Amino acid sequence: MREPHAPPPAPPEKELIAAELAAARDRSLAYTDMEDDLLVRQHSPLMSPLVWDLAHVGNYEELWVLREAGGITPLRPEIDDIYDAFKHPRRDRPSLPLLGPAEARRYISGVRGRVLDVLDSVDLDDPHPLRAGGFVFGLVVQHEHQHDETMLATVQLSGEPGLIRDGELPPGARGGPDEVFVPPGPFVMGTDTLPWAYDNERPAHPVDLPGYWIDRRPVSNGDYVAFIADGGYDDPRWWRPEGWEWVRRKGIGAPLFWTRDVAGDTGGGWWRRRFGRMEPVPSGEPVQHVSWYEADAYARWAGRRLPTEAEWEKACGGRRYPWGDADPTPDLANLGHRAARPAPVGAYPAGASPYGVEQLVGDVWEWTGSWFQPYPGFRSFPYPEYSEVFFGETYRVLRGGSWATHPTAVRTTFRNWDYPIRRQIFAGFRCARGAG
Ligand code: AVJ
Ligand code: FE
Repeated sequence: MREPHAPPPAPPEKELIAAELAAARDRSLAYTDMEDDLLVRQHSPLMSPLVWDLAHVGNYEELWVLREAGGITPLRPEIDDIYDAFKHPRRDRPSLPLLGPAEARRYISGVRGRVLDVLDSVDLDDPHPLRAGGFVFGLVVQHEHQHDETMLATVQLSGEPGLIRDGELPPGARGGPDEVFVPPGPFVMGTDTLPWAYDNERPAHPVDLPGYWIDRRPVSNGDYVAFIADGGYDDPRWWRPEGWEWVRRKGIGAPLFWTRDVAGDTGGGWWRRRFGRMEPVPSGEPVQHVSWYEADAYARWAGRRLPTEAEWEKACGGRRYPWGDADPTPDLANLGHRAARPAPVGAYPAGASPYGVEQLVGDVWEWTGSWFQPYPGFRSFPYPEYSEVFFGETYRVLRGGSWATHPTAVRTTFRNWDYPIRRQIFAGFRCARGAG
């Protein structure tokens, strides 16, 4: 018999994996619980029809868990081509012979049933690299959560109401230092040990950095409005040449989804559209829906620069999350779509890193100054199309996850990447500067 006050035994690993699979699926089904017309329509050429994402997560599961790790013969080999992200760019996906919503739901649930059979019979201590430690299950769980966040961005772009959630978030705080000094010295970047980490986070390697200053909190809407009001979008001094060309050509003068209240009912202030709802831009929230070029220009205007991704990661302090290894709770970070918005800056003092840097994880993805490049000793696993084909000077790295990111799909070593012109993702930034 257990002692009356002993902690309950940890649930077996397979039960945890099954719960993770179920949580990701609940989310995908909730985000696609809408009229068929909205699921098959393409809301933006930047995004897939939602019904493509839905069947794609099932097809990915079939490929990796059933065929590669489970040795099961293909269920629907004829649809592989349609759901191969490399064969068809997003803008072309509506013209493919996609499974309809009902058929897509049937397909992914059929795959999932067999995935649970594989989980039941698999030996998690098997040295096979896909099966060891349940890696392949982590791969598909994180993949599904990433597509769930993409689907949220699609819905936000569509202007349709729904998916707004008004969960309570802690209030912001002002005061204290604006920036934090990180002393010079080496730290370990990346990981060899965090479970379910991707190939691009490995191997762990020492990086020696000079001392630098980094913002304690993300740049807020209020900060960003000052940049706009100072003519930031009209002054080429702040912009990279390609960024300047882009804002001019597109006529960009504010973050995506912002409009000026020209009628002046609210003093000519800024409004934003959030999941179909118009509301005044809250000045205390981290700015989101800005491109890398806008983040870079703001930083130059402010006499600063974006942190490199090494600076960003060092500021986290070397554990799974900035506050330590404990799972996130509502007082530590804004993750998992509790509310469909970032929490105000200063809302998470308890989630600070050992250096005192706040809100590194959750709220908004943070643009860094770095290109998406491999770490020294990188080895592609399990396939080059996850990371390797994106390396180079094309994509900028984002860190930390947003309010829409599930805790299982983010950690201090997690690397996200996108084109420097992209604004539909839930991304903002913080600034840094050298010590000199
Ligand atoms: C890591 C978010 C850039 O969405 O393109 C999804 C994740 N990889 N399916 C993406 C991903 C394969 C990827 N990002
Ligand atoms: Fe995918």
